[in-house]
Amino acid sequence: MSNPVPVVRTVEELRAQVAAWRAEGLRVGLVPTMGALHHGHLSLVDAIAEKADRIVVSIFVNPTQFGEGEDFDAYPRTEQEDRQKLGSTPASLVFAPNAAEMYRKGHASKVTVSGISDRLEGAERPGHFDGVATVVTKLLLQCLPDVAIFGEKDYQQLAVIRRFVADLDIPVEIMAGKLIREEDGLAASSRNAYLNSNERAIAGQFNKILKTLVQNAEGDIPLRDAEQRATNALLDAGFRAVDYVSIVDSNSLELLDKLDRPARVLAVARIGKVRLLDNMPVGAQ
Ligand code: PAJ
Repeated sequence: MSNPVPVVRTVEELRAQVAAWRAEGLRVGLVPTMGALHHGHLSLVDAIAEKADRIVVSIFVNPTQFGEGEDFDAYPRTEQEDRQKLGSTPASLVFAPNAAEMYRKGHASKVTVSGISDRLEGAERPGHFDGVATVVTKLLLQCLPDVAIFGEKDYQQLAVIRRFVADLDIPVEIMAGKLIREEDGLAASSRNAYLNSNERAIAGQFNKILKTLVQNAEGDIPLRDAEQRATNALLDAGFRAVDYVSIVDSNSLELLDKLDRPARVLAVARIGKVRLLDNMPVGAQ
């Protein structure tokens, strides 16, 4: 078994290590995570290795992106196992600050991205993307990587990050990692661990129902009807609620009436207390 990847917990130590790598002319990559690592996260480490000589994986369960009554306290924290798993990847270093290091006394600033943050997940989880944008800005400025990678699993998050990185002239290349699924098609997620076996079986239908939606939307069925059929199918399959199933412009995330440009379906459905996210391309890309 390989050794756990070493960890630093302060911005100062992180900066010193990154500066030493840069002085050697090495390219540095950053993979931001909240830990509880699974093969979806590990795929990002492998993908960024093509563009970076040294890879930092950050592990920080960011309080500011969780709303009231969400699962911040329950969120799985498995740092030792995470570092062990990273031992068999090209990762070089884990950055795992505590909350006091990340948000120092008197912290009063935040990054807000309007428009693209307001729809879909932003409408369901007010303030969520402010928390994400603020912590990712901080991580990028703490580490100053050449390249950072984010998964298409959280498609809207990726779009929000691309927006503020461009708007704020943050000198980093943003890479997209493809969505990794379990064998039955369920998107890999740390939150899947909350599902009991009955719920897990229902969850496996999510991806299949979205595939049918894609076929319908690419056929003659009007997009709103295709979305409604998918919503009904999810409720029939045993999902408790459907937050949204929306066919949107792949770039602006605005709702589309016709497939006249690259499009994507973004969906969130609930089983018990668990919110499951999925998305996939629709039509010609
Ligand atoms: P977390 O949910 O831990 O995810 C970390 C990264 O892994 C994100 O870029 C996410 O999109 C990616 N990821 C998760 N599951 C994936 C899957 N099945 N396939 C591909 N990529 C996957 O997203 C966050 O943390 C946080 O919001 C963060 C960006 C770290 C800011 O706190």
